[in-house]
Amino acid sequence: MSRAMVAILVVLPLLALSAHANGTPRGASLPRSALLSARRWLLAKVQPRLTTLEPGKLKVCLYAGFPPAAILFPNGTWGGEEVQHLTSFAKAHNLALTVVEVPSFKGIWLQPGLGNCDLAAGGISITPSRVTELGTRASFSTHYRADARALAVRSVTASGAPRKVVINGPKDLAGRVILVTNGSTAETDLKARLKAAGVTATLHYTNSEDKAGADVAAGTVLKGSKEPVFAYATGAEGALALANKLKGRVAAAWVHCLMLADGTEVPEHLGYVARTPTTSNKRDTSLLDALNAYVVNTKGGPQGKWPSDFIKCPPAQNGTRRF
Ligand SMILES: *[C@@H]1O[C@H](CO)[C@@H](O)[C@H](O)[C@H]1NC(C)=O
Ligand SMILES: *[C@@H]1O[C@H](CO)[C@@H](O)[C@H](O)[C@H]1NC(C)=O
Ligand SMILES: *[C@@H]1O[C@H](CO)[C@@H](O)[C@H](O)[C@H]1NC(C)=O
Repeated sequence: MSRAMVAILVVLPLLALSAHANGTPRGASLPRSALLSARRWLLAKVQPRLTTLEPGKLKVCLYAGFPPAAILFPNGTWGGEEVQHLTSFAKAHNLALTVVEVPSFKGIWLQPGLGNCDLAAGGISITPSRVTELGTRASFSTHYRADARALAVRSVTASGAPRKVVINGPKDLAGRVILVTNGSTAETDLKARLKAAGVTATLHYTNSEDKAGADVAAGTVLKGSKEPVFAYATGAEGALALANKLKGRVAAAWVHCLMLADGTEVPEHLGYVARTPTTSNKRDTSLLDALNAYVVNTKGGPQGKWPSDFIKCPPAQNGTRRF
């Protein structure tokens, strides 16, 4: 961007502000809206170039098992909070979003680094071990919202009468059958907490929040177990969404902070993963930088504040920025 353009970009909004300072138009300045649209036009002209795998396209690896982050509708179209957010991002950069569906959550964050897509999304929490796994081939974006851990539990008896379920911690899970998504922070948290408490429970794996919710609601006896499913361990927002969808049969319980494999409790944030390829010894962070700028400008995502934003978790290990 040239110096002249930078100067214009800086001065235009100031002019726009002073034009209507204190709500009273001053002098014969241009209308505020004209100045702002001039600035928008200039911004569009000087939007930095992004590197994507295919020119004009933004390929996004998506996992559909954590609605409302990403939702695959029965008619084959995609929606959900992250899909809407990234579709607007793509549009702002004149890119067409194309979806690469990833059927299993485990390792979805590695897909951009492997060159299978530009971004990965669908409810991915930023954790130290995932950051390490990414190396320099990809990077987490700035987080766009918080999450926490919770259980979706059956809130009816076998005869269909309401049942109040109180869960205060891992001791209440002893001997139970619990569904969890392979490779998710729910799996990390549950294993760490059961271990720390010296409690044994049986974990079964799923790749669909909706299927897991249906199994909890029905009290399904899964293959290889004798007891019905007691709960599905997932994000607090996912558990609340299931409780809302399956009202009267499923309730959200035990909302708590994420425990990492080493036993430390940390706040949890969701982010996107962006490909950062290295060519001729230079790491190209153009996509990551643009996405970070967009996430910061649209903080809170399309839907504003979430319940888990209000959960107070211990500070991040070593004060790492993104946790
Ligand atoms: C697909 O289904 C979704 C959800 O019901 C709806 O919003 C969308 O308009 C549908 N799209 C098409 C192309 O039918
Ligand atoms: C979970 O994922 C790992 C690695 O992909 C795999 O080896 C394991 O069989 C999976 N576990 C279950 C129960 O699906
Ligand atoms: C915290 O910082 C110390 C010193 O820099 C380092 O040795 C340690 O590995 C860090 N711990 C984590 C969990 O990052």
